[in-house]
Amino acid sequence: MHRTVDESIRRELDAWLSAAVARVSPPLTFAEVRKGVQAVSSLYVERRPSAGLGARTTESEGKRAALATYYAPLHFLITLQAAAAISKSARAGIRRIHDLGCGTGAAGAALARACPGPVAIEGIDRSGWALREARHTHAAFGVRSRTRRAAVPEGLPRLRAGDAIVMGWMANELEQEARVRLLDFVAEACGEGHPLLVLEPLARRVAPWWPTWAARLVPLGAADLDLHAEVDLPEWIARLDAASGLDHAIPGARVLAAPAADANDAGD
Ligand SMILES: C[S@@+](CC[C@H](N)C(=O)[O-])C[C@H]1O[C@@H](n2cnc3c(N)ncnc32)[C@H](O)[C@@H]1O
Repeated sequence: MHRTVDESIRRELDAWLSAAVARVSPPLTFAEVRKGVQAVSSLYVERRPSAGLGARTTESEGKRAALATYYAPLHFLITLQAAAAISKSARAGIRRIHDLGCGTGAAGAALARACPGPVAIEGIDRSGWALREARHTHAAFGVRSRTRRAAVPEGLPRLRAGDAIVMGWMANELEQEARVRLLDFVAEACGEGHPLLVLEPLARRVAPWWPTWAARLVPLGAADLDLHAEVDLPEWIARLDAASGLDHAIPGARVLAAPAADANDAGD
């Protein structure tokens, strides 16, 4: 389904992306950012699951530029659509979003913009660079936020009423033992009614643990879906796509969303 992004969100997205591009280039040329995009992509495609992947994706200026100006807007657009899989009434009750492994802040900002009420974000990541970018992102979308440098699962937050959890493309970067602890945490949160959004790449081999997570969370009210988001890509993304040989004409993700939207949410 081709969806039009709300005009005010689209304006914020364009301004956010322009500011990120201005921060990274110069000194980087378009070709250097394109190489960064390819390098990050091949880390995900060629790697065997390993902890420390996150650190490797931020180890050069080109890769950091790719994360901030290419993957972040894609993740924002995908998460914005995925958020509609959470019931409207649950989104209306969200007051604080814990963005675990927030990276550049895209997933949390998108979920915040999909909530009708005033929402604050708590971004957690172990990368200081990512947290600085996340603060730019939160400001660009007019969302109040705090960021915390911590590792999951040790630094998992205490939840209170009105709290939601988003985890965009991060659980695949954890060691198996950490991911098991994280699943216990999110299952308990889900059981207590906290809204939840988990996103991972569609490629099954990146997240072979997905069926275990779905088997635990779907009985607690989560929807398990493959999202193919048809959106108008910003020109910068389209240019990088064409130049790098990647094709995000229809970006996608596997999504666990709770509590799942139902027929009453149709048209959202
Ligand atoms: C692929 S990025 C995704 C970032 C962001 N959620 C998004 O949607 O664009 C994964 C992020 O998870 C972070 N990360 C990986 N393992 C982590 C851990 N154990 N604790 C906290 N953050 C972690 C990395 O530093 C990185 O910023």
